[in-house]
Amino acid sequence: MHVTNRRYNFNPGPAALPLDVLEEAQQQFIDYEGKGISLLEMSHRSRTVEEMNHETQTLLLSLLDLPKGYEVLFMGGGASTQFALLPMNFLAPHLTANYVLTGSFAEKAYKEASYLGRTHVAASSKEQGWRGIPDLGTKDLSRDAAYVHITMNNTIEGSRYAEIPEVGDTPLVGDMTSEILSRKLDLQKFSMFYAGAQKNLGPAGVTVVVIRESWLEQASKEIPEIMRYSTFATNKSLFNTPPVHAIYMTNLVLKWAHNQGGVKQLERRNLAKAGLIYDVIDASSGFYQGIIDPKDRSPMNITWRLGNEELERRFILESETHGFEGLAGHRSVGGLRASAYNAVPDEACQALAAFMLDFARRNG
Ligand SMILES: Cc1ncc(COP(=O)(O)O)c(C=O)c1O
Repeated sequence: MHVTNRRYNFNPGPAALPLDVLEEAQQQFIDYEGKGISLLEMSHRSRTVEEMNHETQTLLLSLLDLPKGYEVLFMGGGASTQFALLPMNFLAPHLTANYVLTGSFAEKAYKEASYLGRTHVAASSKEQGWRGIPDLGTKDLSRDAAYVHITMNNTIEGSRYAEIPEVGDTPLVGDMTSEILSRKLDLQKFSMFYAGAQKNLGPAGVTVVVIRESWLEQASKEIPEIMRYSTFATNKSLFNTPPVHAIYMTNLVLKWAHNQGGVKQLERRNLAKAGLIYDVIDASSGFYQGIIDPKDRSPMNITWRLGNEELERRFILESETHGFEGLAGHRSVGGLRASAYNAVPDEACQALAAFMLDFARRNG
């Protein structure tokens, strides 16, 4: 029986999970697949966990349409830990790490690398108040580039790359935390990408890293083993105790995504859902003001402002009493943000568009 008092959840992450997934996990919670104990109580060395772990890796590669030659790693520490692990593994002393700055998470990634070696800002939209994605070409990269790092979708600001940039032979690394599984992309252009699970993949607690095996071979062997991507690859992410339950929840979300018709179908729905809200913003004669350059707008994180902060506060308060959750912009930028990840149902976006129209009519 479906729970009926669920709110319209637009949280930026941790974020909405499919109700079917929550219910399936609830059913399995105490007695996992008839084993007589919970998955939370099971050894990560058991065959059950090993199989679930392997199945999750295979499912992800298949949904992402990646051929053989890529490893899926399940790691802890959130996406932020990847900001440091990436340069630890790949920023050799004679090389330079290249970064594109498109928002505050991109800047954090760049800052972490700066502690560890030589860095270069290949492009930035900071001067433009993060309103879009800057052009990037091979001419912008430094010589001896170890890699170029981009943040494919900027969760706080609400922008995303319309296309994967061309960077020639330089290894491309992507932060896909609020991007993964949201649209069809040729992911073979990346040497590595990573995502904290807590948006489109599952709960907080596991970070997924997908890395090309041939690039992995070039990683440093002079850092502690627990920091090496190769340790996780060699041991199938069972070098130490992984976040088993978070991986299990991710497994269920991936099966759900498959049953929805896969990434292509999710992309179609995401564009339609976000379109409902962007259409209200654009037709509001300036009552709602979109923040991002329309060509770079994200379908995952939709950001906008109202005429003044008092009106924004009223919008948030009223939205909460109308059953909406998580519409306040990030504390660093203010304004409003609706995060419409894969698991946010069409009805939630329809309800938000209707609420926005009504609010504008009453306050415009
Ligand atoms: C694009 C992006 N990168 C990195 C992070 C940081 O992730 P975590 O909190 O898992 O370290 C986030 C979190 O929202 C994010 O949206």
